[in-house]
Amino acid sequence: MNQHIIHSAKLLGEKRNEARQGGGAERVAIQHKKGKLTARERLEVLLDPESFEETGMFVEHRCNNFGMGKKKFPGDGVVTGQGTINGRLVFVYSQDFTVLGGSLGEYHAKKICNILDSALAVGAPVIGINDSGGARIQEGVDALGGYGEIFQRNVIASGIIPQISLIMGPCAGGAVYSPALTDFIFMVENSAYMFVTGPEVVKTVTGEEVTQENLGGARMHTAKSGVADLAFKNDIEALLETRRFFNFLPLSNSSLLPRRRTEDPADRVDMSLNTLVPSAPNKPYDMNELVERIVDEGEFFELQPDFAKNIIIGFGYMEGRSVGFVANQPLHLAGCLDINASRKAARFIRFCDAFNIPLVTLVDVPGFLPGTDQEHDGIIKHGAKLLYAYAEATVPKITIITRKAYGGAYIVMNSKHLRGDINYAWFNSEIAVLGAEGAAEIIFKEECKDPELKEQKIQEYRNTVTSPFVAASRGYLDNIIEPQNTRWRICKALNILQNKKVQLPWKKHDNLPL
Ligand code: HXC
Repeated sequence: MNQHIIHSAKLLGEKRNEARQGGGAERVAIQHKKGKLTARERLEVLLDPESFEETGMFVEHRCNNFGMGKKKFPGDGVVTGQGTINGRLVFVYSQDFTVLGGSLGEYHAKKICNILDSALAVGAPVIGINDSGGARIQEGVDALGGYGEIFQRNVIASGIIPQISLIMGPCAGGAVYSPALTDFIFMVENSAYMFVTGPEVVKTVTGEEVTQENLGGARMHTAKSGVADLAFKNDIEALLETRRFFNFLPLSNSSLLPRRRTEDPADRVDMSLNTLVPSAPNKPYDMNELVERIVDEGEFFELQPDFAKNIIIGFGYMEGRSVGFVANQPLHLAGCLDINASRKAARFIRFCDAFNIPLVTLVDVPGFLPGTDQEHDGIIKHGAKLLYAYAEATVPKITIITRKAYGGAYIVMNSKHLRGDINYAWFNSEIAVLGAEGAAEIIFKEECKDPELKEQKIQEYRNTVTSPFVAASRGYLDNIIEPQNTRWRICKALNILQNKKVQLPWKKHDNLPL
């Protein structure tokens, strides 16, 4: 080998090695001391072994303000490239807090933009790992512009490729808006936080003292604000669960849904479901149990389990194919729909619809939550989001009413009137403007003063109005089914609907009530 080649190979090795050092051993040690992995270690856990193909390893910033000319790091504080998760292509970026605090300057932003552009061109998801002090202060408007370029791409890619944000450190100021524009946000407890203005600014402006964790930690965002979908104990758990989550998603809106092998028979009958719903109409039961009993191998990937607990959303497999589940949860607020439940479910439904993931809706809903709080905070507009999401969705839509479907909530929860494709009710369910007892008390006011007569009137109302056979007689239900058969009925329905195609009239875009 001639000297020139030997020299070039050595130089390349050195340059690569330098880039892999990030901000150096000392800063890596600080990162580890905080319980955090480095940007590269995170990608090692996230991606299949040896699959990572790095891009932009030698990119550097071109800022000379405030001595920045001497602070150049190859890669500019973000590791970018592509790899695979369980053999399926994914584009990734991982901010390196050890380099200038992971701050985002012009070239750091360009690298992220390149990832988003390539992912969109190829049709593969993007997973962004955020751990950054925000806009690089020395770079001024170049840094701000960089964020703007990312936001624009997040929006263009929305609905075409799945975008997932992992927050594994600081994510503050305008930096929060890129994750907010993506489809899912996962956070790590005690090391990740997201806020538009930090505790110092809050204190200066409002006088309020608050910790980072209380202002924008993982617990707050998964239980209170609903900004984040899931909180994990540490980086490893977050990354491994993201791998599991990734399996449910198609690569893009034009690629087929992944299908996996399952040992769980599609025609599995579950007798225990016949006694899941208590005979007393107001006694709660756990809807999660139903979901787990019908999905393949009981594996349900729930999202936002601590936010708006009155509705359940998440992914499961049916006969190996990914399905989005939306279900009222009688254990919380009796399964009523409220503002947060409507927002939570609406966004999930729109994701599933954008990516051709069929929807299964399990209904046990007494109505919308009454109260001044709800009205003053705009339940009308927020409830409309859920209604809108179901009405516009064209994916296969299957509904099972397990106990009650009352009032406006009956319509909203993927009724036949909103183009539910296959709608079933368990044989003991009730569908009406309101429950039989409440209805009897209003329309048979006098009779209801006598307890015996009241019982009679309730029964009369039940038989005449709320019985599922009434809805079935109008064609609002496709069948009335035994609870034990729910799994195979859904599997069969999904097979029937798998080639469903619906053409909607042309429009530039819709005007979802925001
Ligand atoms: C340049 C930054 C930086 C930034 C951190 N660093 N943030 N450099 N621009 N935004 C540098 C620090 O100077 C330090 O360098 C190194 O990164 C590590 O930071 P530390 O402060 O030592 O780390 P820590 O104690 O863990 O604190 C992390 C932090 C803090 C809470 C994130 O660094 C911080 O408050 N940074 C500024 C945050 C901020 O105001 N960002 C702008 C947000 S507004 P040295 O060399 O000294 O070790 C924004 C607007 C976006 O992002 C708008 C988009 C529309």
